[in-house]
This record gives sequence, structure tokens and C-alpha cells, in this order.
Amino acid sequence: MQNNFMKISPKETIKTRDEAITADNNDPLASARAAFALPKDVTYLVGHSLGPPHRAALERLNICATESWAKGLVGSWNSAGWFDLATKLGGKLAGLIGAEPDEVIVTDTVSVNLFKLAASTLPLSKGTRQICVDAEEFPTDQYIAQAFADLTGVSCRRVKPGEDFDALADGGIYIKSAVNYRSGERVDMKAYEQAAEKSGALILWDLSHAAGVLALDMKAAGAKLATGCTYKYLNGGPGAPSFIYAQKDMLSQLHSPLPGWMGHAAPFAFNGQYVPREDAARFASGTPPILSLSALEGALEAFDNVEMKALEAKAGALGDLCIARAEAIRLDVMSPREASSRGGHISLKVKNGYPVTRALHAKGFQSDFRTPDTIRFGFSPLYLRYVDVWDLMEVLAEILETKSWDTPEFHQRSKVT
Ligand SMILES: Cc1ncc(COP(=O)(O)O)c(C=O)c1O
Repeated sequence: MQNNFMKISPKETIKTRDEAITADNNDPLASARAAFALPKDVTYLVGHSLGPPHRAALERLNICATESWAKGLVGSWNSAGWFDLATKLGGKLAGLIGAEPDEVIVTDTVSVNLFKLAASTLPLSKGTRQICVDAEEFPTDQYIAQAFADLTGVSCRRVKPGEDFDALADGGIYIKSAVNYRSGERVDMKAYEQAAEKSGALILWDLSHAAGVLALDMKAAGAKLATGCTYKYLNGGPGAPSFIYAQKDMLSQLHSPLPGWMGHAAPFAFNGQYVPREDAARFASGTPPILSLSALEGALEAFDNVEMKALEAKAGALGDLCIARAEAIRLDVMSPREASSRGGHISLKVKNGYPVTRALHAKGFQSDFRTPDTIRFGFSPLYLRYVDVWDLMEVLAEILETKSWDTPEFHQRSKVT
């Protein structure tokens, strides 16, 4: 696959459906789509929530279940490489976020990992004993920050929009998303790290909406600690485990509050004294979910020979097209206009947004809704086309124009929105 990407933003160039098709014909990433097992007649715009299956993920999962587990049984911990799978995948993921292989481990959930990171960094942070979290942050990050504060006695500071740098100047720990789940706004990680450096604050980055779609560079940003989902743009599957990144220089000082046997330097020595591994795998705790890891292993093949910069550029261009069409029909765009200030999704503020997403779904366009009024479209560049965005916005315009969303069926709330 070629690594060059479109230099002209479709915001300026795509004015018709035919032009969208031409953009697809010129798209160097176009061939990646065939490797995804997407249902026919579905335009999938929810890769920022749950990525679809890559064929290699389904294959690996099947082999893991029917061969390694069913036939290899317990011996597969050695023969199928199960024991090292979480570190192996951490190493592969490191390449996608600009980190060293031994700085990343795949383990647990973002919620659990935020807690582990907070506990291990508190003794190293300087300044005010506080854990900061944005008042607009994804709820689980807020819950963990509050529970951590309650347990440790540090204060939990809810940071209002625009006050990030004031909070950073006071030190402590700061949980921060690189891309906000609701607005899609991307922050300048380097600027935050430079501010943190001055006060001795430590930032725990949540990369859930950034990993797998943006050209992240932990080293260049000076980022020290992070976690993130693998079930979104990394397409690891429902409930796929999260990852932890910890900068090499800090590793020896980081002590997980959940020092389970899988993070021990020699788990099969069965020694009662805990000795952590030297690499990021010191953050592993219990036995890893091998079936999920096997799916993730296949999913990560989608990124082989793909430049993250090319993915970021295409996600930005798809988003630009969406914004241009949204503005043409006078919709309220919540996401930043500049592609460089966004992650992979675009959020629109739409009155009656929930029934509108249901009406879109009925027409084959899957999106999601965040209460009270946010419709999100995720533009995963590996399988979405410019023509998909064009058609989406045409259908959305029609649904709004005809009010076809206003039926009792579409108003019926599902558990997951
Ligand atoms: C920004 C962000 N952080 C964390 C999570 C949830 O992480 P987990 O379920 O792995 O704890 C999500 C889920 O959508 C998210 O959007």
C-alpha cells in the first residue's frame, strides 16, 4: 500500500457525488477496506465506539479457539505464544503511538488502568496533592479520579473548559483525553507536557479516541504515561483489553497498586515476594484474556505498512467533507473546523438527535448518540469512503427535511445509544 496521502482537502474540492467517487478512486488507502468483514448495505460510522472486525481478527480468533485452545489446551501457553501475547501486542501497538516496544503492555480496561497509573504516579508528582480531570471528560475518567481522591485523600479538581493550564501550573496528576469523546477536539499534547514539566505535574493521557486514527508520537510530545481503548479505531473487538504506555525512564519508579502475578519478573518461580518486571508489563495484573488478545493480534494487521500520518490525513479529509455538507444544510457542528484540531469523529448538535440516529440506522447509516443532543460520526479511514460521507449527509438532510425521524419507534430508547 502506498503511503502518500491526498494533499488537497476535499472540503475545497468535493462538490458532487461524482467528485466523491473520484476522490475514492485516488485514495491510496482504498484497498484497506476489503479486509474488513462489513455487512452489505451498512455504512458504519461508529468505529470511534466499536471498530468492525478485520478478517484477520476473525481468523486469529477462530484459530485460537479451535486449534490452540481446543487442541493445544494448556500447552498453548507455551506452544501458541499465549504467555507473551500481551507484551508482543504492546510492542506492536507502541509502533502506532510513537513509543518503544517495552513501554507498552495490553492489559485490563482504561478505567482500571487509569487507577493503576494514578496510584503509581502520585508519589512522583510535585506541587499540590490533587488529581485533576476535565468537567467535560468521559465519565469513567471522572469516576476514577473521584474514587482515587476519596481513597487517598488528595483533592479531586474538576477542570472547567479553558482552565487546563491553570490546573497544570499547580502540579499533581491530571487525567486528560488527547481527543474529547464528545466534541472530537484534539489537544496539543506537547504544550500540555511542557506546562506539566514546569510544575512537576504528571499527565495521564487517555488515548481512547486517538490511538489507531491519529499519528501520535509519545516521544516527540514528551508524554510520560497513557492508556487507551483497543476496541475503537484499533478494531480489537467488543471488550478488547486496553493498553498502558509508560515512558522508559520512569518505569523503575512506577509501582502498580495491583501487583498481580502476571506483572512479576518470574511468575513461575512462585515466590511470595513481589518483584516487578522491568518493562511496561509490570502493569499486568492477572491472567490476560487470550481470546480477545488473539482477535486484537489479527486486527492490528490492518496497520501493517500503513503510515499513521496517511490515516490521520484521510480521517481529517472525511471529516472536512462532513463539516462542509453539515454547514450547507445549516447544522450545528460541535467539532473544531480545523482537521489538525480534531480526532477521527465529528459531532453535530441536533435537536431530537436520538430519533434521528435511529432513522439514519433504518436507512443503513449507523452512527451513535450522546445525550442530550450529540450525534457522532466516526470516520475510520481504513474502511470509509468519501462517497459514504456524501451519501450520509444527503440522507441526513432528507431525514431532517421530511421529519421522517418523528415516529414512536424511533423515539424508543435502547439501553446503548
Ligand atoms: C475517552 C474514553 N475513556 C475510556 C472509555 C472506557 O474505557 P474502558 O471501558 O476500557 O474502561 C471510553 C469508552 O468509550 C472513552 O471514550
